[in-house]
Amino acid sequence: MAVSIKTEDEILKMRVAGRLAAEVLTMITPHVKAGITTDELDKICHNYIVDVQDAIPAPLNYHGFPKSICTSVNHVICHGIPGDKKLKEGDIINIDITVIKDGYHGDTSMMFHIGKTSIIAQRICANAREAMLIGIDLVKPGIQLGDIGHAIQQHAEAQNFSIVREYCGHGIGNVFHEDPQVLHYGEPGTGLVLEAGMTFTIEPMVNVGKRHIKQLPDKWTVVTKDRSLSAQWEHTILVTNEGHEILTLREDETI
Ligand code: MF3
Ligand code: CO
Ligand code: CO
Repeated sequence: MAVSIKTEDEILKMRVAGRLAAEVLTMITPHVKAGITTDELDKICHNYIVDVQDAIPAPLNYHGFPKSICTSVNHVICHGIPGDKKLKEGDIINIDITVIKDGYHGDTSMMFHIGKTSIIAQRICANAREAMLIGIDLVKPGIQLGDIGHAIQQHAEAQNFSIVREYCGHGIGNVFHEDPQVLHYGEPGTGLVLEAGMTFTIEPMVNVGKRHIKQLPDKWTVVTKDRSLSAQWEHTILVTNEGHEILTLREDETI
């Protein structure tokens, strides 16, 4: 499938959806504390998206996913299903929010620390965010996706961390996951040439240990095969004539 170029009207809707997704992360932040279950986080987010934002939580029933958000704790890489386990001091958790508003998607995730976390937990979370930001910074018309993937991979591997290969960023619009695939590794000077009006996510998953993954029997939860910690951050990006716009930037977020 060809990569879609969004119209002005679609871009306006993507801006709204992106802002709403970001606002869910801001809203949930004070709740992400030791003692709360990921089910409770799911419920709070679900109700906020549906009742306050008058929007739709995209993960719910997406290819059979049973909840409204993804919660990925410690060695869970992505697609963790909210459940009855309580967060505890020292955990790290990724919360991934995707909302649909007026038919368009906004997709963003971030890491949270529960109380005091280990130095390695802090390093992996910081590295994954930096990797995402390095990728975002390169986005402008004319640059290639391989340039972005390469820069992200370099940043992780420079600190002896590894990049997950089985999951990638994606085009996004009135479809949750559309072309292009945005790999978080690769070779400079290869891949799709970006054009203004493209919208896609950048969402690197970085492991402390090896890159290899394992899928749990629930068919969703993806964990590191070696059980090492993993971190991920995600933004939805618009390519503009001048460069890019982060559609899911939080009000309090500095880049
Ligand atoms: N939000 C995830 C992404 O960044 C996708 C979650 S799909 C689900 O692409 F079904 F697991 F929710
Ligand atoms: Co995504
Ligand atoms: Co996401």
